[in-house]
This record gives sequence, structure tokens and C-alpha cells, in this order.
Amino acid sequence: MNEQVVHLTLQVPSFYPKQIQFMKSKARYTAYGGARGGGKSFAARWKAILLAMRYSGIQILLLRRTLPELRENHLIPLQKILKTEKRDRNERLAEYKDVTKEFIFPNGSRIKLGYCDSENDVLQYQGQAYDVIILEEATHFTEFQFQTLTESNRPSGLMEEPFSPRMYFTCNPGGVGHQWVKRLFIDRVYRHSEREEDYVFIPSLVYENKWLMENDPDYIRTLENLPENRRNAMLYGNWDVYDGQFFDEFDRNIHVMNPVKLPDVFRLYRALDYGLDMLACYHIIIDNKGDVKVIHEIYESNLIASEAAKKIREATKDLGFSEQDVFLTLAPDDLWSRDATLGKSAADIFYENGVILTKVSRDRVNGWLAVKELLHPYETRNPINGDLFKTAKLKIYSVCRNLIRCIPLMQYHDTKHNDAATEPHEITHGPDALRYFSIFWVNAPSVELVPKAYRMQWTEDMLEDYYNADDRMRERMIEKYGEIQ
Ligand SMILES: Nc1ncnc2c1ncn2[C@@H]1O[C@H](COP(=O)(O)OP(=O)(O)O)[C@@H](O)[C@H]1O
Ligand SMILES: [Mg+2]
Repeated sequence: MNEQVVHLTLQVPSFYPKQIQFMKSKARYTAYGGARGGGKSFAARWKAILLAMRYSGIQILLLRRTLPELRENHLIPLQKILKTEKRDRNERLAEYKDVTKEFIFPNGSRIKLGYCDSENDVLQYQGQAYDVIILEEATHFTEFQFQTLTESNRPSGLMEEPFSPRMYFTCNPGGVGHQWVKRLFIDRVYRHSEREEDYVFIPSLVYENKWLMENDPDYIRTLENLPENRRNAMLYGNWDVYDGQFFDEFDRNIHVMNPVKLPDVFRLYRALDYGLDMLACYHIIIDNKGDVKVIHEIYESNLIASEAAKKIREATKDLGFSEQDVFLTLAPDDLWSRDATLGKSAADIFYENGVILTKVSRDRVNGWLAVKELLHPYETRNPINGDLFKTAKLKIYSVCRNLIRCIPLMQYHDTKHNDAATEPHEITHGPDALRYFSIFWVNAPSVELVPKAYRMQWTEDMLEDYYNADDRMRERMIEKYGEIQ
């Protein structure tokens, strides 16, 4: 098959002016953003095809966040356009390899389709080289994923002519990546070695999509009927009004601090979220003013419960504390549900390994409200010079990297009022652990080093644990929870 045949059989549609602008851009990073239905995915797909045909040997990576989106939005349309399913090989414009999800063109070009469901899926592209990377719905990708991908955007060495690597993005406002996309392409605030001239933004409006206006006016009506903020984002592509960020009060300048010497009087808690996929555990201190500081983070996946307990005890020791110094270790109540095959709960196993957990509520709405209450910034005067400055009850030591990374990524839930989205799952572990601490603490009756009487009520489960325990464990439990009432 020679190129002429290819051009004869490929039916290139006519593009709208904004689509042409996007496709012509040769900047290092070009984003086509704004309203839904503007024709962005369409343009991205065709850009990949036209590049592959124009430049022999070019290696292109086309990414979406999830496999179903990839299949619907690109895989099926590309198979159709490139006629990969034709029985007669001569009629095919490219071969499609299902195992690797690649379209291979006769000129050696390749369009590889990929998705990054979880944060770490992106690591599979590390060390690879793609001349062009197209990131579809870029605001669904985290900044970490974007950064990792930029490292793979380099000359593949397989092209016949010189070509400077580029990335193309399509995006709607809102999503885990809202902040970084907005910073680079809308606010145009640049850091370190980022250069302003490398970033081009082409805004899109649904009204510019003639095809949709004529063929699917209902779709536009649906957008017009959305609640105001979402409508402004989806219909007009407004990046300011809709920002879906759950913790919009979070501010690194207020909430993050470098570790300092601990105060003389304080109370130490631990709070954790545990599953095989991730142990997120925080050491938290409360001083006698009731200020809360998250001083240490454990963030590790694939630990069975006994290993997790060991990790936690080790961390406490490394911080210079004994187990007795820990007032309570707070954990969500589902850790008490028994595993049918083991006949034990995770809490049982933690307990057998020397970490006695205290149940706290998983009430999401009230839990998040409690976190927000602790994060709420307020003004206060510097006692030395009288200057006003902003502060908050809760501060996080800069060593708690994942918590600091994940809090600003949390989004509002699509339908549940006052709740945060549970996706992407990876970013929820740290904030969840903080929520368990917060719902406990905000509801605590007194800040002044909590009187013994407040110590946990003995629940039936705890009593059962107590009666099954050996003397040493019993002593510990009394120490922690006070005498049995
Ligand atoms: N130039 C075009 N010619 C014909 N149809 C188009 C064109 N651009 C977009 N469309 C169609 O408009 C609809 C919305 O486009 P899409 O690319 O999915 O929008 P977006 O990704 O911006 O939400 C799709 O059905 C697409 O096929
Ligand atoms: Mg799209």
C-alpha cells in the first residue's frame, strides 16, 4: 500500500476553525479546552491520524483516564476510520494489535492507546519515548501523572525527519487535574524551568460545533439546564466558577509547616485508614491550646494487618515515643467486621500485634465537616509585632507528603451534597484517615487534656477483646480506655 492509496481512501472531514487552530499548533504543549461537545476529542483523534500519516515512523501515545472511555471515544472510532476490520488487507489503512492496543501504519508510524486508571498506571510509560503524547480530558489526570508523562515525551529516534516532541491536551474544567491545567493554560503562572511560550491554549465553545448544533440540539439543551456553576463550566468553559475542589480552604502557606520541636505538653494520637491497597497512618499531636499537628505519615500499600501494626509501632518508636505515650489509635469501624475465612477482624489482628484500635464513625458528611472545621483559616495577631496573619487549628508537617498532595485533589461528589468524590480511590486514603481523627476530635467535649472519664466508652466488642486477652494486653487496655465502667 503506498501513500497515494492511503490518501485516496482516507476521508478527512472538514474541521471547525478552532479545531484547525488546535491541529496546526506546534507548541511544546497545546491545550484545547473549555466546553463539553466542542469537538475536542474529534480533533485529538484526527490529529493523531494525520500526524501518523504525514510523518513516517512517528510514535504517538493517545491517553484517556479509563479503559471504557478509551474504547468508546477512540478505539472504536479509530478502527472505523482506519478500516482495520476490513477483510481485505489492502483496504486497511493501518493494522490494529489488540494485545498492545496499537495502530501500526505501513510507514512505520504507530498510535498507541493507553489509559491510567490508578495513579501508578502511569509508571508503565516511564522510560519510553513518544514523539507526541495526546492527553484526552487532561483534567482527569493528576499533576503527578502529567509530570511522569512529560518525561516520556521525547524523540523516539524512529522518525525519518527532525521533529520536536509535543503534547496535546483536551480538557474540561473540573476534575482532579483542574488545578494544574488551570495554572499552566489559564492562569499562566509558571514555576522553575517552565517557559510561558511553551503553553498554548485554544478555548472551545459548544456553539462552535455545527454538527452538534444541527444533529443534537437536545444535548445543548441538557447543558443549558445544568445548575449554574456546572453550566458555566460545561457550556461556556469557564474555569473560575466551577472548580469542584472539595477543600477549597486548603492553603499550603497556612496548613503546611516544617517540622519543629514538639511542645512540652501535648497528647499523641494515631489515626489510620487501612486496607491491603493502602495503609495511611498519621501521628497527630494536640497541644494544650487545642492546636492539632499532623507530624508523621505512613503511606504504604500491600501490608497485611500484622505487618501494618508492626510498621505503626516502629514509626511510633522512631519518633521517640513508647506505645504507652499514644493516647488512642483511631480507626474506622469497618475494621471490626470479621473476615469469614479467618474468623477475625483486622482490628483483632492489630490487637494481637500490639496496636489497640479505637472505633470511630465513618459518617462521611459530618466527618468532612469536622476536617473543614479544623482547616478553616482565621486571622490572628502575631504576639511579637502585632501583625495580623492567617492560621488554622490544623497544621501538617511537610513530611506528610501524600496527605498534602491528596487534600487539594479531593473533589466534590457528583450527586451527594456535602460529600467528597470517592474517585480516584488512590487520593482518598490520607484524607480518610484525617477524617477519622477529625470526627473524633471535633466532637470531643473538652480540649484541656481530656479527663479520664471521657476516655472511650467500653463497647461490647472491646469487652469481648478484653476478656479474651492475656494479662499484659488487659493492663494495656485499662491504661488506654480507663477502668471498665
Ligand atoms: N468537524 C466535525 N465534523 C463533524 N462532526 C464533528 C466535528 N467535530 C466534532 N464532531 C462531532 O461532535 C460531537 C462532539 O464532539 P467531541 O469531539 O466528542 O466533543 P468534546 O470532546 O469537545 O466533548 C461528536 O459526535 C463528534 O463526532
Ligand atoms: Mg471529549
